[in-house]
Amino acid sequence: MAIQLGDTAPDFTAETTEGRLSLHDYLGDSWGLLFSHPADFTPVCTTELGEFARRKDDFARRNVKLIGVSVDAVDSHRRWSNDIAETQGTALNYPLVGDEDRSVANLYGMIHPNAIATATVRTVFVIGPDKKVMLTVTYPANVGRNVDEIIRVIDALQLSSTYPVSTPVNWREGDEVIISPALSDDEARERFPKGFRSLKPYLRLTPQPEG
Ligand code: BEZ
Repeated sequence: MAIQLGDTAPDFTAETTEGRLSLHDYLGDSWGLLFSHPADFTPVCTTELGEFARRKDDFARRNVKLIGVSVDAVDSHRRWSNDIAETQGTALNYPLVGDEDRSVANLYGMIHPNAIATATVRTVFVIGPDKKVMLTVTYPANVGRNVDEIIRVIDALQLSSTYPVSTPVNWREGDEVIISPALSDDEARERFPKGFRSLKPYLRLTPQPEG
């Protein structure tokens, strides 16, 4: 069965560009971003993996560790990293699994045979510090992912794992957030001293909590 939100991210041990590692040990207490790409030495993937590398500090500031997967060999990943550095300005700086036997791809349902039979599609899994899967997204091979959007969702997930809030449509860092309907108005006033505006009893907006 496909991996679903709230599942424990299955652990695996695999060869990567940074040596043999186990997912859970690698992540430790951090959040994780596990993603797959279809193939080394292909155009969209080159731009994406370069951007993930260029934004590594943005992920690190959010306590998120990156790890990529494709069915190419580790040696291929290493050679491709030179092209990524040359064309995108940053070489690979996170582990990339060489999943030649497809064990990780199969474990995570990264191969969608009706789209591409022989390679992984563009999957994204955000994993919380408790190893629970908090986001899954799948893109087809011909559409590159948006790293700003991935970071936006991580910000939203981290906010709602810290405070009893959720984020409205098109939310961005610094925008108002929605107070959990589970809180009474009195509890909301206590929890959110900046106050809130109530559009409906179930739709109460408050400035984004800080910290
Ligand atoms: C690409 O990265 O451009 C790509 C990879 C596999 C299939 C199609 C496109």
